[in-house]
Amino acid sequence: MGNELESTAKALVAEGKGILAADESDGTIKKRFDSIDVESTEDNRRAYRELLFTTGGVEEYISGVILFDETIRQSASDGTPFPKLLESRGIIPGIKVDKGAKPLANAEGETVTEGLDGLRERLNEYRELGAKFTKWRATYSIGDGIPSEYCVWVNAHALARYAALSQEAGLVPIVEPEVLMDGAHTIERSFEVTSRVQHAVFIELRDQRVEPEGMLLKPNMVLPGYDSGHEASHDDVAEWTLKCLCRHVPAAVPGIVFLSGGQSDEDATANLNAMNASGPHPWQLSFSYGRALQAPALKAWQGREESVEAAQQAFYRRAKFNGAARSGAYAPEMETAGVA
Ligand code: 13P
Repeated sequence: MGNELESTAKALVAEGKGILAADESDGTIKKRFDSIDVESTEDNRRAYRELLFTTGGVEEYISGVILFDETIRQSASDGTPFPKLLESRGIIPGIKVDKGAKPLANAEGETVTEGLDGLRERLNEYRELGAKFTKWRATYSIGDGIPSEYCVWVNAHALARYAALSQEAGLVPIVEPEVLMDGAHTIERSFEVTSRVQHAVFIELRDQRVEPEGMLLKPNMVLPGYDSGHEASHDDVAEWTLKCLCRHVPAAVPGIVFLSGGQSDEDATANLNAMNASGPHPWQLSFSYGRALQAPALKAWQGREESVEAAQQAFYRRAKFNGAARSGAYAPEMETAGVA
C-alpha cells in the first residue's frame, strides 16, 4: 500500500508534467460559464470537460486531472467513462472530496472546510470509480486580525483527518491549504500567514500519522495581495515562496503542486519557472492549476461546437508552457511564438 501511494505521488509530479484541476464545484463552474455567457447545464459541463480531456498530445504535460463528483460519473460522447478515458491516455484520475469552505462558528470572516462525515465510505466509492488520488482545500483570508490561530488549527486538523483517511483508502491525498491572494496585504504578511498555516498543517499531518512520502502539498505562492497596489517580480515571488516551503515542508514529501489562485496565466507560469530555475530543491515543484490552465480555452470555446479545436489548442499551449516551467525552460517570448 505504502509503495503504491508513493509511486502514484511520484507519477503525478513526473518530469515536465503537472496536474489539471478540473474539479470546479457547481457554483464555481457556473461562475466560469457565466463569464462566457454559456448556461451551466449538465451536458454543457460534460462537453466542456470532454474537450479538455481529449486534447491531443496534452498527456505529455498533464500527469493527472482532478475531477468533481459529477464529472467522475460522466462519460465522453462515445460512452467511455471519463476516468477510463483519462487512464487510457496515461493520465491519472483524481477527485475533489471536500464539501466546501463554510463559515467558522464564532469567527467572523473565517471558514472551515467540511466533508469528513461519511468520508471513508465516499473514498471507497471513488476508488471503485477509478480515482487514484484526492484533494481537500482549506481557505484562509488575510485581513485585520485574521486568520486567527483558531481558524489555522481547525483547518489543519481537518486536512490531516482527510489525508489519513485518504491514505487508508489507498488514495494519494493532495493537501491544499490556500491562503487567498485577495486583500491589500504585503508580500511579507503573505509570507507570515502562509508560514503559520504550513507549520500547523505539517504538525497535524505528523500527529495523525500521515506518511509524507505518499502525499502532495498544494499551496499558494507567496504574493502581495491583489489590492495592495504592489506587484512582486517573479524572482521575488520565487524567493519568498521557497523560503516558506524550505522552513515547513519535509524533504520526504515528493512534490509541491501550486494552485494559481487568480494570477494571470502568464504570471502563474513565470513564477513556477523562476522557482525551478533556482533549483534543485528537495521536492519536485509543479502545478495543479485550474484557472491558469483553462482560462484561454474557456474564452476560445464560448460553448460553440466549431470552436472546440481552437479551445483545445489554447489548453495545449498552456499545458506545454507550464511543462516547460517544470524545468526552468519557459521564456515569455514563447507566448508570442507559434506553438505546434
Ligand atoms: P486555481 O488554479 O484556479 O486557483 O484552482 C486550483 C484549485 O484546484 C483550487 O482548489
